[in-house]
Amino acid sequence: MKQAVTTNQVTYQTARRGGGKPTKVALIGAGTVGEEVVRLLRNRPEFELVGVLVRDPARERAFTGWQELVTTNEDVLAGVDVLVEVAGGTGNAADLSLRHLAAGKQLVTANKAALAERWAEYLPHAEEGRVHFEAAVMAGTPAVGVLAGALRGSAPVSLHAVLNGTCNVILAMMDEGSSFAAALAEAQRLGFAEADPTLDVGGFDAAHKLTVLGRLAFDPALTWQAVHGATRGISDLTEQALAAQAQRGRRVRLIGSIVANSGRWEAQVRPVSLPVGHPLLTTGGTNALLFTGDPVGTVYVRGAGAGGGSTASGVLADMLTAAAGSSGPRPLASAAPVPLTASEASDGVEEL
Ligand SMILES: NC(=O)c1ccc[n+]([C@@H]2O[C@H](COP(=O)([O-])OP(=O)(O)OC[C@H]3O[C@@H](n4cnc5c(N)ncnc54)[C@H](OP(=O)(O)O)[C@@H]3O)[C@@H](O)[C@H]2O)c1
Repeated sequence: MKQAVTTNQVTYQTARRGGGKPTKVALIGAGTVGEEVVRLLRNRPEFELVGVLVRDPARERAFTGWQELVTTNEDVLAGVDVLVEVAGGTGNAADLSLRHLAAGKQLVTANKAALAERWAEYLPHAEEGRVHFEAAVMAGTPAVGVLAGALRGSAPVSLHAVLNGTCNVILAMMDEGSSFAAALAEAQRLGFAEADPTLDVGGFDAAHKLTVLGRLAFDPALTWQAVHGATRGISDLTEQALAAQAQRGRRVRLIGSIVANSGRWEAQVRPVSLPVGHPLLTTGGTNALLFTGDPVGTVYVRGAGAGGGSTASGVLADMLTAAAGSSGPRPLASAAPVPLTASEASDGVEEL
């Protein structure tokens, strides 16, 4: 049996059962998600992990054998079949991913920021089915695959989704009377919010995800600029405003929506008011998506929207798809017809 990286306890590569050659993979990133992906690969003899590109090779990683795997040498990415980008940002990690794609290879990425903001560069490769990005939206909870797959049989009518767990956690604390500042500080203390919370509380993380989903199901030409310009976060909400909604039996949540408006698809992210019992009124980091299509009706997907384990699950699913030579989600060829009337499914989602 062939072995690549062996430690006292763990073998990251063995020959695939049944004799096939393992798929060579490398990761960019060994943070919250990357560490979990490496752990999952421990039990996956169909993959040979050749290395993990990081910024700081001295930092201890939470997987066995990290000293042999982590590197700052970009050469580790050359020659792999499937590159897994779990680093983030719109800079170097995206550049390296695009270089890999330009060589005709497959990419698995959880990086919604790069997909949303640099989509034109990914698009030719996505059209060839070589970009896999299930984990970029709602982590391991299926969203990308269902919109680009099973739901393509219906004409889209609307989409409403909770796409950012950090805002959910903060708004739930404000429901209990906390100010925004106090709730944010508590969310940071509990590890739900980053030291720099702008991407989350400004609504931009949800906007990245909505842009990715919108292009797959509604309009392939949806621009990041359009969604960004229609994004409002939660930092100007007051606990008094939430209390006023509570008196009406309603709660406030950050929702990304795509609806028909005056003959156009309109995508926006903003805090809205929802009646208690509404399916999008989730708690904690739970994300949820309501898609309405004709004739499928309304479809509801709900589950963890973040976290190393959930996201790594989505990444591994994509790696299996890529290793099998199956296509990633195919971009839409043209915009879906815009319904003449606004969706019934927007019922219950009330603008603030
Ligand atoms: N965390 C989640 O729940 C979640 C959910 C869905 C999607 N995602 C997406 O998954 C990606 C990773 O998220 P994360 O939470 O794991 O981030 P993270 O904990 O901050 O880890 C990022 C990792 O990437 C490495 N890195 C960053 N830029 C790099 C570069 N230019 N070259 C080489 N290595 C680089 C960092 O190296 P060092 O450790 O050496 O600094 C670190 O190991 C992001 O795109 C994020 O949006 C995350």
